Amino acid sequence: MNNRLKRLKHIAQSICVILVFQVSGLAAQGIWEGGDPTNGQSLFNANCAACHKITDELLVGPGLGGIKDRWKTTDEMLVAWVQNPQEAAESGDKYIKGIVERYVGSYGWMTGQAVSKDEIRDIFAYVSTPPADGGNTASASANCPTVDDIVVEESDSGNAIWFLVLFILFLIIAISASGVKRSLTDVLAEREGGDMLPDTGYFQRFRSWAWNNMVFVTLIAIFCLMYGVVVGYSALMDIGIYKNYKPEQPIQFIHSVHVCENEIDCKYCHNSVYDSKHAGIPSANVCMNCHKAVKKGKRTGTAEIEKIYAAIGFDSKSGTYIDGEGNTGNSLPQDSYNGDPIKWNKVHNLPDHVFFSHQQHVTVGGLQCQNCHGDVSTYSVGRIASVEEINTLVDAFPGIIQLSKPTLTMGWCIECHNTAEIDLASNGYYEEMHERFKNSERGNEELRNYLEDDKITVRELGGWECSKCHY
Ligand code: HEC
Ligand code: HEC
Ligand code: HEC
Ligand code: HEC
Ligand code: HEC
Ligand code: HEC
Repeated sequence: MNNRLKRLKHIAQSICVILVFQVSGLAAQGIWEGGDPTNGQSLFNANCAACHKITDELLVGPGLGGIKDRWKTTDEMLVAWVQNPQEAAESGDKYIKGIVERYVGSYGWMTGQAVSKDEIRDIFAYVSTPPADGGNTASASANCPTVDDIVVEESDSGNAIWFLVLFILFLIIAISASGVKRSLTDVLAEREGGDMLPDTGYFQRFRSWAWNNMVFVTLIAIFCLMYGVVVGYSALMDIGIYKNYKPEQPIQFIHSVHVCENEIDCKYCHNSVYDSKHAGIPSANVCMNCHKAVKKGKRTGTAEIEKIYAAIGFDSKSGTYIDGEGNTGNSLPQDSYNGDPIKWNKVHNLPDHVFFSHQQHVTVGGLQCQNCHGDVSTYSVGRIASVEEINTLVDAFPGIIQLSKPTLTMGWCIECHNTAEIDLASNGYYEEMHERFKNSERGNEELRNYLEDDKITVRELGGWECSKCHY
């Protein structure tokens, strides 16, 4: 009896030991082993690439090349650091203390990243064995617009002004020519002893000239009238169409510098685009994540970046914020901080009676930003892309739906809803509905007809119903 109990106890103990060993074995699988570098690459690009390169070059933070050999503390500390650097620093770890002393003064705190331990393992698998082509960083700025493309902005009103200048020049020449002609005639008349021309005004002379050239004058008048009608008509038809509309902005923010050259994900700045109606414009705090350290741009020097500091009240010399209470402890005069948020001018602006949701299109519909906004990574300032321009992107961004109506008009929304297909294959809910209706005797006749071609467009789901888009 006693013996049996002992044996049972023994077995139970060994099971426990084995279990504990297994579990701790799992925990001991280091952060540097077993990650998936492909997944790591996209995670890195979305969360870290804005501030880190995978080489040892410094960007906003230190390059992560060679981090595996450099990291002299535990794996847990690495995870803790990436998720919440300030909390990790509070642990008093010596290595972390070293990083903080070395970088935080001049670069500010790294912002904690919402990535799990497994995701961090993938990221470092990518960082420690980058693909042969050097990964994302090597080719980064090769195809970005050059400095000149960015700074030289052509103005649309240019043409109209030149026409006006030419017209005035022409008028002056015409008037002075008629004056010269008149003087010559007078001189001639005087020499030959004939009558001088009566002293008439320009208007009278124009009238008699018009009478003499009636056909010509009539033709010109008809032409002007028709021109007026055509211009007026197309102006009326263009109401509500904003091709390439591009308002002035308080800071010359350049998308191509951020998105193309520095590969910052759209979501980093427009962070609500996947889960809300609005994409959102970043606040000055978001800019400061990087611009606390990046104080100078290649094109605009310090001039534009200083405007971020003025808006948020940051003294770039001492690297401290004015606290708004009048007590600064730094060298900035108090009135250089107005505390006003940066007032970006809206580029896209649907009328108030229209409902539009980004989440519905980007997350549910799976559409790419370029389908509606064009290739923003090449833009200087935010602008409205024309539909012609978007159609040319189909090679670079496969899957873009080509349309013909001007962007942001109701015709454009409707046309896409008539064209865009819902992907039934990857959506069990629709597939089941689909089958149920197709085989049902009582099923809605109209719906069955729609289903016959095995395709469902947004329209067939109700994408043409006025109330879906109008309040
Ligand atoms: C907003 C900029 C920013 C982002 C985004 C960012 N970091 Fe950092 N990182 C920094 C800065 C700055 C430092 C230097 C320490 C400091 O100043 O806080 C740093 C330091 C580090 C270090 C320590 C480097 C060393 O030499 O010991 C690691 C590791 C690190 N980051 C990993 C990551 C990972 C992984 C991600 C993405 C999941 C990430 N960081 C995202 C800015 C950033
Ligand atoms: C570093 C931050 C940042 C990143 C990254 C970024 N944007 Fe922007 N975006 C801004 C700011 C700031 C504005 C407002 C100034 C302007 O319109 O140029 C803006 C404006 C826009 C606008 C016009 C908004 C309006 O008023 O209608 C669109 C569209 C846009 N961004 C799309 C994108 C897309 C698509 C991407 C990714 C390819 C992207 N942005 C990446 C900061 C960013
Ligand atoms: C994730 C990092 C990051 C964020 C966020 C960010 N920037 Fe930048 N910004 C950079 C980098 C990197 C540069 C490149 C500096 C250079 O080499 O020209 C830059 C350059 C600039 C320049 C100078 C361009 C030039 O070449 O002269 C301006 C102006 C600027 N950013 C404004 C902003 C504004 C405004 C915001 C917030 C809406 C913002 N940035 C957010 C990283 C960032
Ligand atoms: C189906 C077309 C469509 C797609 C796809 C789309 N947008 Fe938009 N976007 C719009 C329209 C329409 C507006 C104007 C909304 C308004 O005025 O209410 C807009 C406005 C914006 C604005 C201005 C701020 C705001 O929230 O109104 C930003 C920034 C923006 N989009 C970014 C993006 C980004 C980033 C993506 C990709 C992740 C994207 N958009 C995808 C159609 C689209
Ligand atoms: C490039 C194509 C495209 C454009 C342009 C577009 N949409 Fe859509 N829209 C879609 C797709 C795809 C869906 C379906 C998403 C889903 O539910 O699977 C959708 C769905 C919708 C829905 C939900 C419909 C429903 O049945 O619930 C509304 C509302 C909507 N769009 C409004 C608009 C408005 C307003 C505009 C114009 C400003 C617009 N869309 C422009 C592709 C587009
Ligand atoms: C897919 C979305 C969508 C649907 C469905 C839709 N509209 Fe619109 N509608 C819009 C948009 C976007 C505008 C704004 C166009 C602009 O600003 O040029 C608009 C504008 C209008 C206007 C203002 C006139 C104008 O051209 O600006 C009227 C009136 C209107 N819609 C009526 C309707 C009626 C009636 C229906 C149903 C038969 C309907 N809409 C269905 C998106 C939609």
